[in-house]
Amino acid sequence: MSTDAIVLLKDEHKQIKKAFRDFEKAGEKAHAAKGKVVDRIIELLTVHTYIENEVMYPRVRELLPEVEDDVLESYEEHHVADVLVMELSTMKPDDERFTAKTTVLIENVEHHIEEEEDEWFPKVREGLGRKQLQELGAAMIEAREKAPRRPSQPGALKKTIDALTS
Ligand SMILES: [Fe+2]
Ligand SMILES: [Fe+2]
Repeated sequence: MSTDAIVLLKDEHKQIKKAFRDFEKAGEKAHAAKGKVVDRIIELLTVHTYIENEVMYPRVRELLPEVEDDVLESYEEHHVADVLVMELSTMKPDDERFTAKTTVLIENVEHHIEEEEDEWFPKVREGLGRKQLQELGAAMIEAREKAPRRPSQPGALKKTIDALTS
């Protein structure tokens, strides 16, 4: 089995986008179904962001200084997605903001995935050798084992947000 880092990440992107389509297909009032799909989206994104943040991004930044700006922008996009994921993880599907928040998360992540796949992963493929991409992928598979499945401190974040908005 190939452990090519970019192949692995694109495969995860596919699973994430499939879950997004499942959310959009769930009916307007199908709260239980939506809740289940959003749980899956939260898990997929938490794991995916973790392996990119912990393995792919720092390693690429170190090996290919010319993509540093792309990596920094991507960290910020992950941050926005993290905040939305944390907020969503504290919400119930019948909350009036649940669907709106999920929709904004989907729009943000799709834009981010597009930038990764179309703009800077090709530069990474060109800049790193096959062997380096395989090693990077193997390290990501290892990191995936210890990746968190849910955002770590949604309770603490919710308190901060409540304090700021009350
Ligand atoms: Fe990413
Ligand atoms: Fe990604």
